[in-house]
Amino acid sequence: MRFSKNVVLRSICYFVFILSYSTITWTSDSQGRAYGDEWLYFVSDNGTTHVMNFSSIPNDTQDMHFGDAYFYLYTRNNIDKPENLRIPENNMSIESFNFNKSNDIKVITHGWLSGENSKWIQKVKNSLLREYDLNVITVDWSELSKNIIYPYAAFSTRYVGKRVAKLLDALIETYGIGGKNIHLVGHSLGAQIMGYAGMFAIEKIHRITGLDPARPLFEIPEISLDCRLDKSDADFVDILHTCGGIFGYKGSYGHADFFPNNGQPIQPGCSGIRQVAESCSHGRSHEYFEESIEYKYDTGFISFPCESWKKFDVGECKEDPTSMGYNANVKRIGNYYLRTRNESKFAIGNE
Ligand SMILES: *[C@@H]1O[C@H](CO)[C@@H](O)[C@H](O)[C@H]1NC(C)=O
Ligand SMILES: *[C@@H]1O[C@H](CO)[C@@H](O)[C@H](O)[C@H]1NC(C)=O
Ligand SMILES: *[C@@H]1O[C@H](CO)[C@@H](O)[C@H](O)[C@H]1NC(C)=O
Ligand SMILES: *[C@@H]1O[C@H](CO)[C@@H](O)[C@H](O)[C@H]1NC(C)=O
Ligand SMILES: *[C@@H]1O[C@H](CO)[C@@H](O)[C@H](O)[C@H]1NC(C)=O
Ligand SMILES: *[C@@H]1O[C@H](CO)[C@@H](O)[C@H](O)[C@H]1NC(C)=O
Repeated sequence: MRFSKNVVLRSICYFVFILSYSTITWTSDSQGRAYGDEWLYFVSDNGTTHVMNFSSIPNDTQDMHFGDAYFYLYTRNNIDKPENLRIPENNMSIESFNFNKSNDIKVITHGWLSGENSKWIQKVKNSLLREYDLNVITVDWSELSKNIIYPYAAFSTRYVGKRVAKLLDALIETYGIGGKNIHLVGHSLGAQIMGYAGMFAIEKIHRITGLDPARPLFEIPEISLDCRLDKSDADFVDILHTCGGIFGYKGSYGHADFFPNNGQPIQPGCSGIRQVAESCSHGRSHEYFEESIEYKYDTGFISFPCESWKKFDVGECKEDPTSMGYNANVKRIGNYYLRTRNESKFAIGNE
């Protein structure tokens, strides 16, 4: 198995996590561990509730799961029959039957306790191939993401990001493709993986879309931007915030940051007890993204540059609309706000 204990233990960010966590422990108030600051409830794809405990970094590798990341290629010639892509040894060329070098590359990955076969990844892949002729590559890191000890899954993102970068390097080398033809999309911890992939890839990657990038152990406690997704990782980084301050980034770290319904829970249509409503809000980021694939420029999720939700909410920002999601304009920089409907179709266009 390629994934040795050393890969994790040697990772610089691992130590950063520990150092920054110890700061938080010292400053923790006498009330004890606070919900949201040190642990959270998380409802996984299949509806099971888990405790996401990021208040302590386990100090042995006893519960460490070892595993790898796997890559699946889908094109219009094999929409439902994934082709396994392998990172070649040494400097060999990558071998693929279906890869079409005339087309752009989209890489998609999932978050904690999820996998490549999750419904939303398959829906995004299908929508992309329905609308465009592309090479869609999905990354399955479920062997690592399925670790119920959240910090281990979080540490794995750096390793998986490196593997994604290796695959991209091999594709670039084999097919003479440029980084400008590559777009990476990740949800939650998957967004952090894509940040690392962009950082480690030899060529500068054109675009990374972060779907509610994971906050616990990245933004809280706050670690260096080298160790998490930010705008240095690609020419254009767009971030969709839907559970900001809980599971997702609260701050703006992309070139363009989109805040549907203020970017926070509870997103419209997400109801129930708190843990269910928050996990639902976290998932809205990929639902909005999936729906956005069918819209052309300047239709669908129309958003507006604004200083704050407060100003947007009272109707102060009605100029210079731009699209959120798949067809975001790479020239638009800043914070954008919009409202959505409470169920699919979520986009309200110019209403
Ligand atoms: C999180 O882990 C710490 C250390 O193991 C433990 O003291 C704490 O009770 C846990 N919190 C929850 C909510 O499980
Ligand atoms: C961490 O290591 C110390 C010393 O080996 C041990 O006493 C402690 O129980 C360990 N904590 C955890 C959470 O494993
Ligand atoms: C791999 O290929 C690159 C570019 O073709 C070359 O610079 C590098 O030295 C090669 N590395 C090995 C180990 O063959
Ligand atoms: C590769 O993509 C090009 C452009 O989208 C298309 O015209 C061509 O038919 C594709 N080749 C194969 C073998 O599918
Ligand atoms: C749901 O997912 C969790 C975590 O991935 C897993 O442990 C559990 O067995 C799954 N339950 C069902 C009913 O599939
Ligand atoms: C969405 O809002 C409409 C109108 O307020 C309401 O009738 C409907 O039940 C809501 N749907 C959901 C899923 O919350």
